[in-house]
Amino acid sequence: MQDSFGRSITYLRVSVTDRCDFRCVYCMSEHMTFLPKAEMLSLEELERLCITFVDKGVERLRITGGEPLVRKNVMTLFERLGMRLGRGLKELTLTTNGSQLSHFAQGLHDAGVRRVNVSLDTRDPDLFRRITRWGDLGKVLKGLEAAQKAGLGVKINTVALKGLNEDEIADLLRWSHAEGFDFTLIETMPLGEVEEDRSDRYLPLSLVRGRLEREMTLTPSTHRTGGPARYFDVAETGGRLGLITPLTHNFCESCNRVRVTCTGMLYMCLGQEDSADLRAPLRASNDGAALDAAIEAAIRRKPRGHDFVIDRRTAQPALARPMSLTGG
Ligand code: GTP
Ligand code: 5AD
Ligand code: SF4
Repeated sequence: MQDSFGRSITYLRVSVTDRCDFRCVYCMSEHMTFLPKAEMLSLEELERLCITFVDKGVERLRITGGEPLVRKNVMTLFERLGMRLGRGLKELTLTTNGSQLSHFAQGLHDAGVRRVNVSLDTRDPDLFRRITRWGDLGKVLKGLEAAQKAGLGVKINTVALKGLNEDEIADLLRWSHAEGFDFTLIETMPLGEVEEDRSDRYLPLSLVRGRLEREMTLTPSTHRTGGPARYFDVAETGGRLGLITPLTHNFCESCNRVRVTCTGMLYMCLGQEDSADLRAPLRASNDGAALDAAIEAAIRRKPRGHDFVIDRRTAQPALARPMSLTGG
């Protein structure tokens, strides 16, 4: 699949639920309303959709949420999709808050998952509770332990938050690398209504990088995962630091991805409203022709990129749609 800018679409992010057992302050309102369950695709439909994309050239599938592991019976989806590994599908993975990983790590590995991205913004239990509102740090740490034991590679994702975790970032980096985890920092993006003013929390990673460089040596790396992160080798830890900087540096020119939500909406860009309904063609017939046509038409419309800005005057999110709908 090629879009109108010549970019090959080889990566699909599939949000299997918009629900979550956390309420991170930068992601959701405390009184978040979720999609009606009746509108969600069944696991069988999600599988059919994923396989259609693999047949059309998608090589990597990332299962996301909300929190993907709170979707009932989600392991059957991993098991079914895992069967396509080696036949067109090169990687099956997920992004999780880690709260349920201690139950699922082994099952994920058995299904063919080899690495997981775990969101963790602090290792301070009180601050963790303040950021996630509902989360329990102990459970996430147990989940990380289980992931290691099961042989899963781990990447820690940390959203850089002014006045919350900014003084802990160097420590999180050293800890991650000492545990054998990759470590990536993310700039907070203006998606979805939250109680706080996001611009108060926005911490440009150019600034964070400068601060880290006072304590350690960062060398730009040629390493790429096909994702938006740019990497640096950290001499002192021997590990890798990833920076995801949609606001200070736009990486859309090499975008390889699209997203599907749990109701079957295809979003061609995380930072634009345009979407295509795949649920109707998916349900219309079993032969797949209508679904193929809908996907192809949508890919041709993939926009050049996002136009996120942190607007101090309006403090409005660029998009009303929260990150939990598309899973990032
Ligand atoms: P790998 O590179 O496959 O390890 O994963 P990733 O970093 O793309 O995925 P992950 O789920 O860990 O996402 C980390 C952060 O990157 C999330 O906050 C995503 O929202 C953000 N992200 C991923 N893809 C895009 C993108 O296309 N545009 C923007 N602006 N952000 C993205
Ligand atoms: N800006 C940046 N990152 C966000 N995440 C959730 N909401 C936002 C936001 N508004 C992060 C989560 C997780 C990843 C999927 O997206 O912390 O690491
Ligand atoms: Fe849940 Fe992730 Fe949003 Fe936090 S950032 S509320 S863990 S979906």
